[in-house]
Order: sequence, then structure tokens, then C-alpha cells
Amino acid sequence: MAKRKLILDVDTGTDDAVAVMLAALHPALDLVACTTVNGNVEVAHGTDNTLRVLDHIGRRDVPVYEGLARPLVRPDFPVPRTVDDRAGKFHGKTLPLPPTARAKAAQGAVEFLIETYRQATDEITLVPVAPLTNIAAALTLDPKLTERVPEVVIMGGGHAIGNVTPSAEFNIWADPEAAAIVFGAGFRKITLVPLDATHRALVSRADCDRLRGLGTPAGEAAAECIGHRIVAHDAAQQMATPGTTPVHDAVCVAYLVEPPVIATRKLHVAVETAGALTVGRTVIDTQFRGSGLPQCDVAFDSDPARFVDLLVRTFAA
Ligand code: BDR
Ligand code: CA
Repeated sequence: MAKRKLILDVDTGTDDAVAVMLAALHPALDLVACTTVNGNVEVAHGTDNTLRVLDHIGRRDVPVYEGLARPLVRPDFPVPRTVDDRAGKFHGKTLPLPPTARAKAAQGAVEFLIETYRQATDEITLVPVAPLTNIAAALTLDPKLTERVPEVVIMGGGHAIGNVTPSAEFNIWADPEAAAIVFGAGFRKITLVPLDATHRALVSRADCDRLRGLGTPAGEAAAECIGHRIVAHDAAQQMATPGTTPVHDAVCVAYLVEPPVIATRKLHVAVETAGALTVGRTVIDTQFRGSGLPQCDVAFDSDPARFVDLLVRTFAA
């Protein structure tokens, strides 16, 4: 069977790192490229981290295209929580992996996205697991992108849960105008994996032991990244089960190879860009009270055992 092609847009990041490894190593996936953007860490660090991850697992052939360094219209966002605070707690600026001598691609991420989709003869799923700045910029330059992308799988937002404010999730909050453009653009299919789903696929210290026990570069790197996240979450944002963490971005990649890992409902999603208390909120119309037609398959649940087994199987090879 032909492999499913994808482009992963990342701000690597401890959970992005696991997503990159899953996308690069799963035998049913063909990771065409990674694109990077401002988010968890400044974009230069995100690019460097992404290259480190790919090199560490022997995928030096996957190119990394660096994208935009600032949100579309809020040059000083995110404030008042700085990117450095967030990086320090959950990610660290530089992942604990060997440095890379490899350079990023010469072309910028936005240009790469536009050109690649213009020329594509195969379907390429677009998987943004970071602020949506690159995707919104590409759409603004080439609105036909909506017709060329078969499916967009986004990690972002939350209905019952926020993580950076009481009502907003980081990826959407960090560039709300970009997110509003993407959700309103008219893509053929959007699958949204918000916190409501990622907080159900919690990964534990025992799971990290399984991953480390594989003795592979990916198993060890995943255990290291996830272990770091468990410490950070226990200290700053404890999960329903202490000693566990969501690995948000990897759930999107897991869905590509095992769709039942999430359970979705087709709903309308819009993004708040003005509210003083609610900026960056994904307004998900669960009761069909608005006039917007459902345009997203929104995940409200996920299967932790299936998710962890997939990571273990993929990183064992
Ligand atoms: C999202 O924000 C980032 O910190 C993570 O990498 C993930 O994409 C979770 O809110
Ligand atoms: Ca991310």
C-alpha cells in the first residue's frame, strides 16, 4: 500500500519531537518535510531542535524549512507569559540531543508550502501542530491552497480545557488571527485535535520505562522528552492522574495511521480574536446554536493504550 504523505509544521518542543519521530519512523507514513514556526521556542531553536531529532533517528534525508518568526499581526505576542517561560517549563530551548551539522533548507517554509502543493501530483496531508502563522501566510498568498490540501490535521484549541489562559490553548492563542484565517479558509477537511482529546491520552512514567527499554534512539529520546514533560506538568499544570503528561502533537500523527485513536464530532469552529478574557479561544459550536456550518471533525476523546502501544511499536524498530 502507498505510504501516506505528510508535511509536519512544528515548533519543536518536547511533544513536537515525539510527533516528528512518529511521522519519520512509521512505515505507513512518508514525511515529505518539516516546516518550523515561532511558538514553544523561537523559530531558530525550533528549527535546530527539529534537525537534531531527525538526525538522531537517522532521517537526515527529511528537509526542514524554517518559517515565520513572529505572529501575523501581534509582533509582541505572546505576552504577558513570554515564550521563554513556556520554553523553560515544558520544553527547554534546546532538546537534550546531539547537535547537528545539517543546515535548514535554503527556501522559507511559506514558499515551500505554496510551491509543493502547487506541484503535487500525490495527496499530501498537512499537519500543523504549532501556531498557525505559516499556514495563514501561505493561504493569504495562495488561497487555492484550500483545494490542494486533502486534509489538515491541527493540534490546537480546547472546548472544556485551556492551558495558557482559562479559555485558550497555546497554539491558537499564540497567533489567533492566523488561526481565524485557517479555520475560515474553506479547507476540504479539517481534523482538529484539541486539549479535550490530548488530555485523555496521558502518558505515564511506566510508559516512559517501556520506551527507554526499547534501547533505540527514538525510544530513548521519546522517554527523555516525555519524562521532562511529566516533571513540568506535575509542577505547573498537574493532570487528572499525577505523574502523567499529554504528548499533544503526537496524537495528530497517531490519528493518521490509526484513526480510531481519536473520536470526533463534526462541528463548526471559530476563533476569538477580540475578547479581553477569551482571545485565542476556539469557539466550538457543540449545540448547533450558531449559523456557521460544521467544518471540522473535532476530537473530544482519545485512546491512551492504543496511542502508547503505537509509539512503542514504532520506536522499537
Ligand atoms: C501545544 O502547545 C505547544 O506547547 C505544544 O507543542 C502543543 O503543540 C499544546 O497546547
Ligand atoms: Ca507544538
